Amino acid sequence: MDFTLSEEQLMIQQAARDFAQNELLPGVIERDDAQKFPSEQVKKMAELGFMGMMVDPKYGGSGLDTISYALVMEELSKIDASASVIVSVNNSLVCWGLETFGSEVQKEKYLSRLSTGQCIGAFCLSEPEAGSDATSQKTTALDKGDHYIINGTKNWITNGNSAEIYLVIAQTDISKGHKGINALIVEKGTPGFEIGPKENKLGIRGSDTHSLIFNDVKVPKENRIGEDGFGFKFAMKTLAGGRIGIAAQALGIAAGAYEMALKYSKERKAFGTEISNHQAIAFKLADMHVQIEAARHLVYKAAWDKDQGNNYDLSSAMAKLYASQVAMDTTIEAVQIHGGNGFVKDYHVERMMRDAKITQIYEGTSEIQKIVISRSILKN
Ligand code: CAA
Repeated sequence: MDFTLSEEQLMIQQAARDFAQNELLPGVIERDDAQKFPSEQVKKMAELGFMGMMVDPKYGGSGLDTISYALVMEELSKIDASASVIVSVNNSLVCWGLETFGSEVQKEKYLSRLSTGQCIGAFCLSEPEAGSDATSQKTTALDKGDHYIINGTKNWITNGNSAEIYLVIAQTDISKGHKGINALIVEKGTPGFEIGPKENKLGIRGSDTHSLIFNDVKVPKENRIGEDGFGFKFAMKTLAGGRIGIAAQALGIAAGAYEMALKYSKERKAFGTEISNHQAIAFKLADMHVQIEAARHLVYKAAWDKDQGNNYDLSSAMAKLYASQVAMDTTIEAVQIHGGNGFVKDYHVERMMRDAKITQIYEGTSEIQKIVISRSILKN
């Protein structure tokens, strides 16, 4: 067993760390306040190759492994989880899904644009009545011979307005249940496709989350991903990898808040000494450190499983479940260590606490991860 990162992985980790410090940190509080999408920063992340990290260079990607992707997600999320979710959705839900299951024509038409960051993508599964219960798709994609007609509404879609390419999951044949679901590529600007209002969120306020409305949207059949009826499996397989990205995001939020709390505890004095000299604070830091290290091992293991070609449904669910809990616990303690300052926006940790919450909800709630985990361990 070798826990050492390669030279290349260390370089990528350092590049992401530098980028986060130099380009994401300035303005992160203001973007959160104003719910401002980080357009300039996304452009720069594209230049660094962060938008299509695992995509084959022949489609404009960086051709890196999943561990490198997790390292980048971790470093970006230490500073700005709004920016990192844009990276995560584009990489693991959109680019990976298209590269793995798309046709050659689809890859040539869409993948290079997405992996180079010329445009970004969105993954559209959730609906008002189909969040956790993802097979209950009410959005329909009726088969009309050489095209589909989509009708319905999608909710809480990350990159909802900023995306130009949308992977839309919809029901074609209700009598077939989940085997009657398809995944279709829909381009922004297609007649009948409207972007709903932007959500006013608790956290990750810099990312744009919207509902999407489809009114008789005509999509050619060549835009279907995979065979007829493959849409639900496409969503499940894609989300299994997506969960590694979100687990790495949760890890980064936790590690970022911990690093701030550690630094603050060595500067802030109370009762005549730095607060880190009080056991009440030192023990909190010890607990945070152990939890973060444990989460890191789960996240890297899930990424490693994917890179090895092992099944990663279980390891990605475990990584997301645990890392998101650690993100929540650690950020709450980081606010506590900062005391009154922790409650003030200038000190960052209150934002991290708000950002942490979504990691227990999107790409499958913690309860859904427990369904995946329990089914997996019980079937063996
Ligand atoms: N890989 C391949 N196939 C899979 C699979 C996987 N990981 N998981 C399930 N399937 C298959 C099953 O084998 C089954 O197929 P067969 O009938 O052929 O065997 C089929 O899918 C249906 O599976 P289940 O019977 O297990 O379905 P279920 O109704 O019990 O639901 C669930 C399973 C795991 C709860 C699923 O509904 C789920 O993951 N829900 C959560 C959805 C989710 O994560 N939403 C997040 C939205 S996206 C988002 O947040 C993105 C963003 O913007 C950040």
